[in-house]
Amino acid sequence: MLLEGKKIILGITGSIAAYKAAMLCRLLVKEGAEVRVVMTPLAKQFITPLTMATLSKHPILVEFFNPENGEWNSHVSLGEWADMLLIAPATANTLAKMTTGIADNLLLTTYLSARAKVAVAPAMDLDMYKHITTQQNLTTLAERGVAIIEPTSGELASGLVGKGRMAEPEEIVAQVATLLNEKKKSLAGKRFIVTAGATIEPIDPVRYITNHSSGKMGYAIAEVLAKRGAEVRLISGRTALACPKGVERIDVLSAEDMYNAAIKEWKAADGGVMCAAVADYTPESVADHKLKKSDDDLTIKLRRTKDIAKELGANKGNRVLVGFALETDNELSNAEGKLQRKNFNFVVLNSLRDSGAGFRGDTNKITIVEHSERTEYPLLAKSEVAAIIADKIESLF
Ligand code: PMT
Repeated sequence: MLLEGKKIILGITGSIAAYKAAMLCRLLVKEGAEVRVVMTPLAKQFITPLTMATLSKHPILVEFFNPENGEWNSHVSLGEWADMLLIAPATANTLAKMTTGIADNLLLTTYLSARAKVAVAPAMDLDMYKHITTQQNLTTLAERGVAIIEPTSGELASGLVGKGRMAEPEEIVAQVATLLNEKKKSLAGKRFIVTAGATIEPIDPVRYITNHSSGKMGYAIAEVLAKRGAEVRLISGRTALACPKGVERIDVLSAEDMYNAAIKEWKAADGGVMCAAVADYTPESVADHKLKKSDDDLTIKLRRTKDIAKELGANKGNRVLVGFALETDNELSNAEGKLQRKNFNFVVLNSLRDSGAGFRGDTNKITIVEHSERTEYPLLAKSEVAAIIADKIESLF
């Protein structure tokens, strides 16, 4: 669900497009949001409070206080409660009042008190929308951080055809989800290298040595770092995954290729996350023809590969370097050894003894091992693990 656990105030103003607010409310709830509806007095003439109360599963708020018992509807606590104030439809009148600070109904006082993100979905006749006053008001609101969900063109209530139709509920929900789920660009200006996937060590033109890494964990890390504004070079072994948006991928095959790419990119980097499963050994020589089978056993001599992380750690300066430890036994002591030897800031330990952890799946179970602390996490989606790692990295800058 796109909006799991999000708290949204849906503000409805007096426009014919208010009928779409019913569908909008239903979709928001379906996507997991908790919705409280605030209507302007005029909005009640376009859609009934009963409809909106039924769909949002909460009483509708219109007046500053309940005339029956004098109980106040606190716009301040409403504003504090919400993750977003979404005004849809937003009339030219409400947009104008928002820009000037007029607070003559509960929705406008809530807007002035809201600490949450604010989004508006304008709906009006095409000439009202085009009017210089409305356009200036929208520009002012956008400059103040209000997200404008653009109206579309089409037939309007007046019978005219043009721009002014409120965006469709599905589109509004998609834009709300993007706004609420986007992390602030907390790593803007930082450059990272992330290694991911398995390396391939050729034996002959046909055969090779590799491992089970799918690249999922490393790709999730690259994606979250990029979403937070970092410039990311993803040094990737062969995988079936698509390169995450905003990430520059450098394709490599062998541990030697990965080493060369990492050393080159490290110079301009502010940090690195070593998530790849790199071969520790590679055939000493690669046959230039297919090795033919015989009745005898075959011995292939392997030599050590270079340790990429260790080399980066030895030239770390004030960069942040994060390592992984994939273990099957003596997990913590092995991870602590890697923390020291490779000069990592912290190690993300995952053990193949935990079901759902490690290779290939969409989940992982990790313990973050630092010099003075260990923090264990439950089984989580790899995207959530990536966010935890990114948070930790952020705290180190
Ligand atoms: O790709 P997935 O299918 O999603 O699986 C994810 C994963 C299990 C591969 C990932 O979570 C993980 O554990 N990656 C590290 C695997 C590994 O090789 O760990 P290690 O304990 O052998 O290596 C320790 C650290 O040194 C790692 O950061 C590794 O990238 C690095 N290393 C190792 C050898 C080498 N020659 N160069 C290195 O940089």
